[in-house]
Amino acid sequence: MLWWTWFVLQLLCSTVIRGLQHYQTAWGHYDVCKSQIYTEEGLAWDYMACQPEATDMTKYLRVTLDPPDITCGDPPEMYCALENPYMCNNECDAATEELAHPPKLMFDFEGRNPTTFWQSSSWKKYPKPLQVNITLSWNKSIELTDDIVLTFESGRPEQMVLEKSLDFGRTWTPYQFYATDCLDAFTMEPKTASELTQLTLLDIICTEDYSRGYVWKNDKTVRFEIKDRFALFAGPRLHNMASLYGQLDTTKKLRDFFTITDLRIKLLKPATGATMVDENNLSRYFYAISDVKVQGRCKCNLHANSCVFDKGKLGCECEHNTTGPDCSRCKKHYHGRAWSVGSYLPIPKGTANICIPSMNGPVPRVCDNAMLRCQNGGTCHHHQRCHCAPGFTGVLCERARCQGPGECEDQRSGQPPLRRFFISHPLILTVAALSLPVVPVC
Ligand SMILES: *[C@@H]1O[C@H](CO)[C@@H](O)[C@H](O)[C@H]1NC(C)=O
Ligand SMILES: *[C@@H]1O[C@H](CO)[C@@H](O)[C@H](O)[C@H]1NC(C)=O
Ligand SMILES: *[C@@H]1O[C@H](CO)[C@@H](O)[C@H](O)[C@H]1NC(C)=O
Ligand SMILES: *[C@@H]1O[C@H](CO)[C@@H](O)[C@H](O)[C@H]1NC(C)=O
Repeated sequence: MLWWTWFVLQLLCSTVIRGLQHYQTAWGHYDVCKSQIYTEEGLAWDYMACQPEATDMTKYLRVTLDPPDITCGDPPEMYCALENPYMCNNECDAATEELAHPPKLMFDFEGRNPTTFWQSSSWKKYPKPLQVNITLSWNKSIELTDDIVLTFESGRPEQMVLEKSLDFGRTWTPYQFYATDCLDAFTMEPKTASELTQLTLLDIICTEDYSRGYVWKNDKTVRFEIKDRFALFAGPRLHNMASLYGQLDTTKKLRDFFTITDLRIKLLKPATGATMVDENNLSRYFYAISDVKVQGRCKCNLHANSCVFDKGKLGCECEHNTTGPDCSRCKKHYHGRAWSVGSYLPIPKGTANICIPSMNGPVPRVCDNAMLRCQNGGTCHHHQRCHCAPGFTGVLCERARCQGPGECEDQRSGQPPLRRFFISHPLILTVAALSLPVVPVC
């Protein structure tokens, strides 16, 4: 009996604490896939939706240039400053390490002086366009979590397109167009990311924000604004991630918009700094990029909290008895129900949607009191079926049953489903009624 009282107090404590912390720390992590908890029957597993931490994804990419021989320095070349055709002290020589500008210098550590950068050969064949495709491939689907930022060492291009692929480079769609004059270059009205709304979030725009001002040395970046788009749902300082996660959960198009396997930077026209190209000094026109930032995480369908880079390949470390590079299948013998993506809802722990053993597999069980615990107070009958407490449904009673629109809203707004055990156990009521000092036990 003593043990019971202690146990209930513990539970009550953790509930109280969880309640207090709920809105400060609870969402946006999803960093744990499962945890051991105490139940009436003893230790059991509790499964949660989980995802790897966001990280610098440029460490894991492969870069391809088209045309392949567009990098400067073979043969060696002298470059002049765009602003001043008499200032020609930039030499590129692929055979000398200090003077070479290979593509990998776009992804190395910046912050040292002088900066390191990739550079193209100059516009020697003018008026034939100087165009370069830079393709970044991960061979793995990844989810972007922050702005894509390109930092130019040369003037920023007068025309460029950022494209993405979701199928390993088979098909491409534009992400954003960039030009000094959008109408002239792409027959598109100029727009900025800040003009987007929840309804137009998936629109592909042309922006003039990042193509002008070649003379100002600190105006060197070209962005694809991920955070501005997130902010349309999560608020200006992304304080309401719950709302964003709710949207991502229910709108596949939105989720796919931020998911990529490859990016392509199509450089279409270099900075000229003037309306006329100086044909007598084409050494002033070229592309040079010092840094590329791509922040994101492996897409693991909320079934893994880590992603490893092994033998040049990224892969999710799948949990919940799922498998595949993106955890997009159930493991062998775990086809007891159809595979399903995990869910961010209810906030903060989401729903794991684990794969369960096949009926005809070696372990013909749907539920037990350990790994496949019936959740939310459901009880396991003959290892075959969970009898769910009122208000819950799903094979393991993992989902709240929406009885009216009000209840579902409630769930979306971040209330975890109540565990029946807490409410219905008479001991808790007794403890609460007597107002025993709860805090010292925590
Ligand atoms: C870049 O890719 C496009 C396809 O989007 C292709 O049509 C074009 O020829 C490529 N440009 C160069 C310079 O290779
Ligand atoms: C991409 O990944 C697949 C496995 O998912 C592998 O078979 C293939 O060789 C990889 N391709 C490259 C170019 O690394
Ligand atoms: C043009 O470029 C060459 C090097 O290619 C340089 O020597 C010369 O000073 C530059 N300026 C003018 C105005 O010709
Ligand atoms: C199924 O998942 C559970 C929990 O993640 C794990 O303990 C168990 O080993 C998994 N089974 C298989 C066959 O991987």
